[in-house]
Amino acid sequence: MNDILGADAARWRTVLGCTREVIESYGYGEIWLPLLEKTELFHRSIGAVTDIVEKEMYTFDDRNGDSLTLRPEGTAGVVRAFIQNGLHRAGPQRLWMSGPMFRHERPQAGRYRQFHQFSVEAMGMEGPDIDAELIAMGAALWKRLGIDDALTLELNSLGTPESRATYRAALTDYLRGFEDALDDDSRRRLGSNPMRVLDSKNPALADIINGAPQLPDYLDDASKQHFDGVRERLDALGIAYTLNPRLVRGLDYYSRTVFEWVTDRLGAQNAVCSGGRYDGLVEQLGGQATPAVGFGLGIERMVALVEQAEASDGFAPQVYLAALGEAAEAQAPLLAEQLRDHGRGLRVQLNAGGGSFKAQLKRADRCGAAFAVILGDNEVQTGQATVKPLRSDAAQETVAQSQLSDFIRERLRGDSP
Ligand code: HAM
Repeated sequence: MNDILGADAARWRTVLGCTREVIESYGYGEIWLPLLEKTELFHRSIGAVTDIVEKEMYTFDDRNGDSLTLRPEGTAGVVRAFIQNGLHRAGPQRLWMSGPMFRHERPQAGRYRQFHQFSVEAMGMEGPDIDAELIAMGAALWKRLGIDDALTLELNSLGTPESRATYRAALTDYLRGFEDALDDDSRRRLGSNPMRVLDSKNPALADIINGAPQLPDYLDDASKQHFDGVRERLDALGIAYTLNPRLVRGLDYYSRTVFEWVTDRLGAQNAVCSGGRYDGLVEQLGGQATPAVGFGLGIERMVALVEQAEASDGFAPQVYLAALGEAAEAQAPLLAEQLRDHGRGLRVQLNAGGGSFKAQLKRADRCGAAFAVILGDNEVQTGQATVKPLRSDAAQETVAQSQLSDFIRERLRGDSP
C-alpha cells in the first residue's frame, strides 16, 4: 500500500484527469460506491474458487457480526448498485467509477495490496457494438496519454455458460489423463474450475497446457457471430488485436468477449486494462436479466507507463520551426509565439542563426522534435506552413498557419487530422 507524493501525485492527477475526460467523452456517467460490501457479494460474483476469493480478500466481521470485505474489484459493486437502485428501469446505462481496491497478493513491481482502478461498465446492451466501443475507448486513452506504442490488445470469446460447460467437460477429460503430473493447486482446480488450470504459471505444466483442447473450438453459433461482430468493428476502427484462445480471465462472471490490453514494459505484471462481457451476472445476483460488458483499468500501471514515456521523451521540443528567406525569418518568431500560445503547452524550438534548409533540418532532427515546421517565402505569401514528420515515414503536409497548432496537437496524439 503506497503513499503517493510529490511528482508522483502530480502525475496521478494528470492521468486521472485525462482518463476521466476520455471516458466521459464516450457518454459514460460517474457513480460512487462504498469501499465495503458484504463478503457474500464477491463469493457469488467473482466466484468461490478464484484466487481473489480464496486467498486475497480483506475480510472481517463488523460489530454486528456481519462479514464485510474491502472491495477487491469494481464490477460486483456496480452490479449490486444497479440492482438495488432499480437502474434497469432507466434503460441502458453507461457507468464508470474509480477508487482503491484491495487484494492481499504477494506484492511486486506493479502489483499492490491497495491499488486503484477505473471500472467502466455498460449495462443493458447485448450487441457487439458496445464491446467494440469499450475497446476503442481504451485505444483512445492510450493515444491521449502517449502510451499507445506500449500496449497491445488480446482478445478471446468464452461463449455462453452452456458452450463453456461442453468445453469444460472436454478439458476435464483431457486433464484427468495427466492427473499425476499436475501440481496440487491444479489438481484441486481440476474438480472445481478446470479452466483455471490453464492459467497456471508452473513451467512443468506448460506442455500439458499447450496440448489442451481450446475454447474457441467449442463456441456456440450465436457467440461466434457476436465475436465476429466485435472483430469486424475493431477492423473497421483500425484497432489491431491478437487472438488469444488461452485468455480466460481470473474471475468467474465472464461470458462471450474477454480482452486485455497488455504491455511488455512492466515486467511480470503485463495487464493494464482487462475486461469483458458478463451477461449472466445481474440475474445471478438477483436482478432482471441484463447483458453487460466492461473493463477495469489499473491506474498504477497506467501511471508507470506514462512515467516511462516521459523519461524517454525527456523535454525535447515537439516542434522545430525552420525559416528560409528574409520574409520567413521575420515571420517565424511570431508564428512560434502563436504556436506556444494556442498549442496548450506545445514545446516549440525556433531555428536561430539562419543556415541552409539542410542544416536547419539536421538541427531539427538532433533536438529530438517530432515535427519540423518549415516556413519559406512561398508559405509566408500564402499564409501556410509545411509540416514534416521527423519520426515517421508519413508524408509532409501543407497547413494553414491558423490551423497549425490544432493540426500538430492532433498529430502528436496520433489522430488523423
Ligand atoms: P482484473 O483483471 O482483476 O479485472 O483487474 C483489472 C486491472 O486492475 C488489471 O488489468 C490491472 O491493471 C489492475 N490490477 C489488478 N490487480 C492489481 C494489483 N494487485 N495491483 C495493481 N494493479 C492491479 C477486474 O477487476 C474486473 N472487475 C474488470 C472488469 C470490469 N470486467 C468487467 N468490468
